[in-house]
Amino acid sequence: MSASHVCSGLGSEKLPGSENSPAPKERTGAAASATVSPETTTAATPGAKLEPAKHPTESAARTQPGPAHARAPLASPPPQPLARPPVAPSAPAPAQAPEAGQHVPVLLETFLAEVSPVRGLWLDATLGGGGYTRALLDAGAEAVIALDRDPEAIAQAQTWAQAYGARLRLHEARFSRLDEFAPRPLAGVVLDLGVSSMQLDAPERGFSFLRDGPLDMRMDKEGPSAADLVNTLPEDALADLLFHYGEERAARRIARAIVKARAKAPIRRTGELATLIAACLPPRRKGDIHPATRSFQALRIAVNAELTELAQALTAAERALAPGGILGVIAFHSLEDRIVKRFFKRASAAINPLDAPAAAHRSSPKPCAPRFEILTKRPLLPSAKEIARNPRARSAKLRLARRTAAPAQGIDPALLGLPLSALDTLSALPQSLRAKRGQR
Ligand SMILES: C[S@@+](CC[C@H](N)C(=O)[O-])C[C@H]1O[C@@H](n2cnc3c(N)ncnc32)[C@H](O)[C@@H]1O
Repeated sequence: MSASHVCSGLGSEKLPGSENSPAPKERTGAAASATVSPETTTAATPGAKLEPAKHPTESAARTQPGPAHARAPLASPPPQPLARPPVAPSAPAPAQAPEAGQHVPVLLETFLAEVSPVRGLWLDATLGGGGYTRALLDAGAEAVIALDRDPEAIAQAQTWAQAYGARLRLHEARFSRLDEFAPRPLAGVVLDLGVSSMQLDAPERGFSFLRDGPLDMRMDKEGPSAADLVNTLPEDALADLLFHYGEERAARRIARAIVKARAKAPIRRTGELATLIAACLPPRRKGDIHPATRSFQALRIAVNAELTELAQALTAAERALAPGGILGVIAFHSLEDRIVKRFFKRASAAINPLDAPAAAHRSSPKPCAPRFEILTKRPLLPSAKEIARNPRARSAKLRLARRTAAPAQGIDPALLGLPLSALDTLSALPQSLRAKRGQR
């Protein structure tokens, strides 16, 4: 499997194999995208339908060895026969660092070992290069529903999707709505967050501070771009955004420099912005991340509303998972991981998450059944070997939880650690751009 996987996150662009590598030799996604229209829903075999509902929590863990959580008995009907027998997982293990534009899935082998044996209907909320989707199908998933908001990811998957026929369904969609794509309760949901190598390494997508291109950063190519934000947000709002989404300590200085520069001419290119940011910061010492790393992360998060997407996806997964179903999330920076960690903690607690602030002041908080059981007390990290093979893995953290039979509750986003003040700064966009965002 040659699916390449990318990851986002602070510092993700500084090591060999990423932004310091030569420009990509070849990309296939852009050419394929012309064949797929927005909101495409594609069965790998045209007209094919998924098998009628089977209980997705079926688990051959009863008969096979595996990780402790996979072996625990589930409150579910007996396993149904699979459409085709499982084969060994095919986690990619390239001998050398991946080429630019090639996405090497992060923590895939670790993930498969934890969720093995793979059975039932899974949803991969972040298709990207298809590494996770294919591995789940190859490991024995009855079927996989794969989402991506990037039309190029969906188009690129057309080159290999046919091999899986009706076992694979592709949807161009945001994962905040993932429950709408589940025809029945799911055996598992996986979110491999951030951007793919295909996105990061393509200068024309505007995610990269090392490859000059238009200042875009829109995963789904809709709504306000990074250039819109940089050229229209008031200085204070820009500084808040850089601080909250990039944890950039020089946020005010950088915002001031941006406002000064754009008064002369709009900032349109990634290279231009990266140079401007570098000039605001002390010279880099050996081993330091690129000075633009944090600001680019902040802009990308804001442009794609990544943190609200994540918070909504977690509650959507809670609604979509069957009792015993597994939720796995791979995060690449602390803002993402904090949201996942807090969600798991709240959702596995025996109090009503919507009631939690009030409950803190009551002597007897309202009890409520936990909706998840945490399977990873501490996040699982990539091995030194994986990081050597794929430097973009180095900031990755995998957390897993198992759905209980308790009814879904949802959660107040304020309890998840979303930097709400930064979200408010987007209301500082001019009306015309706010309308653009609302249409998405
Ligand atoms: C790190 S890549 C996934 C790589 C993939 N797991 C693989 O093995 O190749 C993240 C993907 O998630 C997609 N994505 C990010 N945010 C999304 C969202 N809110 N809804 C749907 N897709 C999203 C990106 O477009 C990107 O293709």
